[in-house]
Amino acid sequence: MIAVDGPAASGKGTIATRLGAMFGLPVLDTGLLYRAVGVLTQRAGDSLDDEGAAAAAAAILTADQLDDPALRTRAAGELASRVAVHRRVRDALLEFQHTFARQDGGAVLDGRDIGTVICPDAPAKLYVTATPQVRAERRWKQLQGQGETVAYGDVLEDIRRRDARDGGRDAAPMTRAPDAQLLDTTDLTIEAAADAARRIVEAARVRWEAAKAAD
Ligand code: DC
Repeated sequence: MIAVDGPAASGKGTIATRLGAMFGLPVLDTGLLYRAVGVLTQRAGDSLDDEGAAAAAAAILTADQLDDPALRTRAAGELASRVAVHRRVRDALLEFQHTFARQDGGAVLDGRDIGTVICPDAPAKLYVTATPQVRAERRWKQLQGQGETVAYGDVLEDIRRRDARDGGRDAAPMTRAPDAQLLDTTDLTIEAAADAARRIVEAARVRWEAAKAAD
């Protein structure tokens, strides 16, 4: 099981996808779960601050709802970060994530609390980061590619606000697990970042197999 955490647009999603392809593992982008809860709560006309309403949306969420392109928008990222502060929302999404993580053969999960809360025993953990400016630039280009017109400065502001909210909340705040390998992608191409991630996972696998053999 591979846990990939980090802030918005750090490259963790791309890295998780690449690791899944390299090691033949299914990948779950857990941000999509929170995005879906945010979008569904808003569509139902409920307040994002209403923990009960958001938790009820989380409780009935199904995998087929995660393909909605509306979840990939800038607005959905903000909605996700807002409902993600609620402990009951996080609790309602636990089982889905645990079931995915524990499937035979393993899995890759990316998010904010995978190595700390969802899978603290994951044998391989990465914490992917980059400067807010570089992350904003990546997200800005991605949104442009999706046809969303937005100023770079607004995207940078989004990133800073989400970092503060995701890292400052009481319930499962975004933080690096003590045993997670830090991967700073600020100056790395996608290829170089994916290669560094592969080396981290391979080293973790060697350690894990040695520990198992010594048991
Ligand atoms: O990875 P993302 O940008 O799609 O995530 C959207 C928001 O969802 C993020 O700002 C915080 C929340 N989130 C979370 O709290 N825990 C996770 N494991 C994944 C996402």
